[in-house]
Amino acid sequence: MRSAVEQIKEKLSIIDVVSSYIKLEKAGKYHKAKSPFSNEKTASFYVSPDRGLFYCFSTNQGGDMFTFVEKLEGVDFQGALRILADRAGVVLAHEPGRNKNENEKLYQIVADATKHFESNLKGNAEALAYLKKRGLTEKSITLFRIGYARNEWRDLYDALKITGHSDALIEKAGLIKKTEKGYYDRFRGRIIFPIRDSAGRTVAFSARHFEGSEDSAKYINSPETPLYHKSRILFGYDSAKSAIGKYDFSIVVEGQMDVLLSQQAGFLNTVAISGTALTEEQLTLLKRLSNNVVLALDADRAGVASAGKSAALALSLGMDVKVARLPLGVDPADLILTDKEAWRAALRESVHIVDFYLAYLAELNLDDRTYKRRVEEYVLPFLARITSMIDREHFITVVAKRIGVPEESVRTEVSRIAALGERGVVPRDDQYRNARPVSRRKRLEEALMGILFWQESLKDPHINIAELTKSIVGITGEERFNKLKDIPNEESQELSFRAELYIQDEGKIEREVDELLRGLAKEYMKARRQWVNEEHRKAESSGDSKRAQALQKESSELSKRIQQLEESEVK
Ligand code: CTP
Ligand code: MN
Repeated sequence: MRSAVEQIKEKLSIIDVVSSYIKLEKAGKYHKAKSPFSNEKTASFYVSPDRGLFYCFSTNQGGDMFTFVEKLEGVDFQGALRILADRAGVVLAHEPGRNKNENEKLYQIVADATKHFESNLKGNAEALAYLKKRGLTEKSITLFRIGYARNEWRDLYDALKITGHSDALIEKAGLIKKTEKGYYDRFRGRIIFPIRDSAGRTVAFSARHFEGSEDSAKYINSPETPLYHKSRILFGYDSAKSAIGKYDFSIVVEGQMDVLLSQQAGFLNTVAISGTALTEEQLTLLKRLSNNVVLALDADRAGVASAGKSAALALSLGMDVKVARLPLGVDPADLILTDKEAWRAALRESVHIVDFYLAYLAELNLDDRTYKRRVEEYVLPFLARITSMIDREHFITVVAKRIGVPEESVRTEVSRIAALGERGVVPRDDQYRNARPVSRRKRLEEALMGILFWQESLKDPHINIAELTKSIVGITGEERFNKLKDIPNEESQELSFRAELYIQDEGKIEREVDELLRGLAKEYMKARRQWVNEEHRKAESSGDSKRAQALQKESSELSKRIQQLEESEVK
C-alpha cells in the first residue's frame, strides 16, 4: 500500500500547499514569492511544481511540502502530516504495536482527557447553562470541544488509569498533581477549554470556574509540558490560520471566550494571547500568514500598556499594527454577545498604533506641555521601530502636525531613539535569525555538487560531467567527494534544484562553475594554511627547526596561491 506521504503528494501539489499561505507569482518554470521566513524586499523564495520542492535563498532552507508546513507552522513532521492529511482527505492509519515515543503517548493522554471532559459536559446542566448564557451555541461547544471537569478529586485520573496510561506520564501531561497521599486531578469543577497547537492537536487546557464552583481563581491552566510552551501557542490559531491568510489580517484578543465568540460570529481570523503580552514566537506565527495585525485588547490602562508592548515588538518585526478600540470595561465577548455589529464596527474603525496612542493621550486632558512630553515618551519609540521608511516618514508628519513642531525636530528625535539601540528598538531583520549558518566551504561544495547532480540528470548536459567531477575531486580529494556524492535522493534533488535556480541562465554555467571551483580551492587552501601555521607554531616551540622551516615554506606558498586566485577574481 502506498504510504500516507505518497497519497498526500498525489492529491496535493506543492503549489496548492504553499499558495494557501503566501501569494505566489509565476516566473517561468517556477513560482516566486517574498520569503515568508524573513523580511526580504525582493523575492528570493522559489517553488518548483515539477520537482515538488521549494527553496528560500534568504534563509538557505528548502524541501518538500512537508518541510514547508513544518517550518511555516512551527510543527514537527507528525504535525505537518496531520495538517496535510486533513487537507488531502487522506485518513492516517494507526500503527498498532509500534513503539510510541513519549511525546506520542502524551498527545494520546491529552486526547483521551479531552474526550473524557467532553462527555462530562453532556451530563452537566449547570456548566452547559453557563456556556449558553455566555452566548455559545451548541455547534461551537462541539466544534471547540469544550468540556467539563467534575468536582471530584480523581475523576480524570481514574478514567486515564483504566485506559492504561502511567502515573508518570499523566503527571507529565500536566493533568494531575502529586501529594504524599497519592495523585489528584489538577482541574476540578471547571469548564475546560482545550488549547490546540497549529496542527490542531490538543496540548493543554485552560479551565474556567463558573457559578457553583468553589475554587477561587478564575482560570487554572496546564503548566508548561513537553507539548505545551505557552509562549509559542496562540489560542484559536488552528482554526484561524486559513482565515488570517484569506482576509490578510489577524485579530488578537485577550481571552479564550473572546476567541470563541468572535470566531462563532464569523471572524474566524481571531486568536487569543491568554493573559500575556504577545511574544516574538507568537508574532512570527501570525506574520507568516499575514503582515497585518489588529489588537483588540482591553481598553483599561493595563490593556493599553500591554497593547503598546505587543505593538512595539510587532513593528520591529516589520508588521503593520492597528488597534481596535472597545468601550471601557467591555471585552470582545461581551460586545459580540450584545451587538455583533458593534464588534464589526470596532474592527473596521481600528487605527494604526501611532494614531491610537496620539488619540489616547489627547483624551487624558493633559496640559499642552505635558501632552507633548508624553507623545515624545510614548509615541516616538513606536516611530523608531517602524521598519518601512515610507511609513516612518508618514507618521513623522502626523506627529509633527499633532504637537505643532517642525517635522525636522521629530525626525531628529526619532533617529536619536533608533540609534540608541535600546533592546528591540533598532529594527532588526529576522532574516539573520532564521538563516541556517553554513560555512562558505560547505556552501561552495553544495553549489558544485548541485550543478553536478542537475547536469547528470539531463539527457543533454551543458557541461562535461567527467571533467567537472575531476575538478571537484582535485580540490576535495576522493574521500570527501564520495561523502558529498553519497547522500539521500531528496537531498541531491534539493541541491540540484538550488543549482538550477542559482544558474538561471544556462549560457553562463561554465563561468559560474569556474568561479565556484576557484572559490572552493581558495577555501581549501586557507584551511590548509591555518593547519600549517598551527603546526609551524608547535614545531618551533618543540625546537624542531627543520620541520618548522618546511612548514613555513608551505605556508608562504599557500599565501601566494591564495593571492593569485584573489587577483584573478578581481578581473
Ligand atoms: N487568565 C488566566 N488566569 C486568570 C485570569 C485570566 O490564565 N486568573 C488568562 C485566560 O487565558 C483568559 C485571559 O487571561 O482567557 C484573559 O483574561 P480575562 O479577560 O479575565 O478572561 P476571559 O477569557 O475574558 O474570561 P471571561 O470573559 O469569561 O471573564
Ligand atoms: Mn472576558
